[in-house]
Amino acid sequence: MAHSTQARTVTHWQRFAVPYEFPVVFTEGVFDADNPALRDVLCRLEPAKRHRAVFFADDGLGEPLLAAIEAYAERHRDALELACAPVAVPGGEKIKTELHFVESMQQKLFELRLDRHSYVVAVGGGAVLDAVGLVAATTHRGVRHVRIPTTVLAQNDSGVGVKNGVNLQGVKNFVGTFAPPFAVLNDLAFILALPERDKIAGMAEAVKVALIRDAEFFGWIERHMDDLATFERSAMATMIRRCAELHMRQIGHGGDPFETGSARPLDYGHWSAHKLESLTRHHLRHGEAVAIGMALDARYSVLAGLLPAGGEERICALLEYLGFQLWHPALARTGPNGEWVILEGLKDFQEHLGGELTVTLLAGLGTGVEVHEIDVERMREAMHWLKSRAGD
Ligand SMILES: NC(=O)c1ccc[n+]([C@@H]2O[C@H](COP(=O)([O-])OP(=O)(O)OC[C@H]3O[C@@H](n4cnc5c(N)ncnc54)[C@H](O)[C@@H]3O)[C@@H](O)[C@H]2O)c1
Ligand SMILES: [Zn+2]
Repeated sequence: MAHSTQARTVTHWQRFAVPYEFPVVFTEGVFDADNPALRDVLCRLEPAKRHRAVFFADDGLGEPLLAAIEAYAERHRDALELACAPVAVPGGEKIKTELHFVESMQQKLFELRLDRHSYVVAVGGGAVLDAVGLVAATTHRGVRHVRIPTTVLAQNDSGVGVKNGVNLQGVKNFVGTFAPPFAVLNDLAFILALPERDKIAGMAEAVKVALIRDAEFFGWIERHMDDLATFERSAMATMIRRCAELHMRQIGHGGDPFETGSARPLDYGHWSAHKLESLTRHHLRHGEAVAIGMALDARYSVLAGLLPAGGEERICALLEYLGFQLWHPALARTGPNGEWVILEGLKDFQEHLGGELTVTLLAGLGTGVEVHEIDVERMREAMHWLKSRAGD
């Protein structure tokens, strides 16, 4: 503490560190009556207590899920008390865009007199987790929050992270907080029941994290691309687990879990993906946009002399084999000045964090590298390459 009796200004430094820890559990059949995984995480701090909880469930999962949650609570009623019947909420981006859903969830918690030792459990895709996570983090300044992600993307990436958020005026995640959850439960059964399109989309994040962090994992994905393309159960489980682990490692050991710096080390291929998502008004899934963004930045990495030539073709071939299309007509949209609108994504990307532009590119298949400048002419060239590759 600095202290001066003479100066006009006296500064006292307040300093503390708060350690965070939360379990990420991989299971199957989380609401099966005899599966103790959920009960165990709810009871992990006070084993003898009966815990109050509110469940918000993605309506894309259907009515039977609500009954399964009720049956689970009934079977474990010594440990778990439902504050109300499980509440179905809209799945997908709608819940993050129409903010009355956030307000009505908060109203519900208010009416139920939920306190900070109670649980808000979110079951659903990344969008539902983001919106419910914000509700949990801001109600009473933070109610215990348990996530049960139900898509590949939510299980291998967003759900194991520490962020939540909703959109404002078309800007993704403009309102949100950093708030580590109390626990995460990844249930493989949800993945096996997903529509094919969502099974494919979430694999983009596994390819991404392999490309920037783990050559061995990239090789594993290549060797198992047949199994992944047909959604073989154990390949899907391994892919999700390894991808989740790599994301967790970055957050836990990367030195900047709450992203106060300018870097977004896990956002390879994302500057254009975010723009493309909004250009297509979310008709493209996040992962589908990321696959295109990775192809673009792989080619740029080659043109910039960072990635040996041929690497970009290997990445594109893998992504296409997994089921991704690496072009979308919205990419070709131009503004009044004739410039590709997608290139505005670079500025938006920088503005979200502030500070210096930081884009992750590739120096190898497994090695990400951060750069602070993007040569627009070279990026145009990469765009032309992607366009002509698609035969557009
Ligand atoms: N917080 C973060 O760190 C972070 C990171 C990446 C992405 N995200 C966010 O995640 C969101 C995308 O999440 P997503 O890819 O999981 O998609 P999503 O949440 O938009 O869900 C897609 C669709 O799948 C349905 N669904 C969910 N689970 C299902 C299941 N098991 N079976 C059948 N249908 C199911 C939903 O109802 C929805 O219609 C975006 O809003 C993105 O911004 C957040
Ligand atoms: Zn992503």
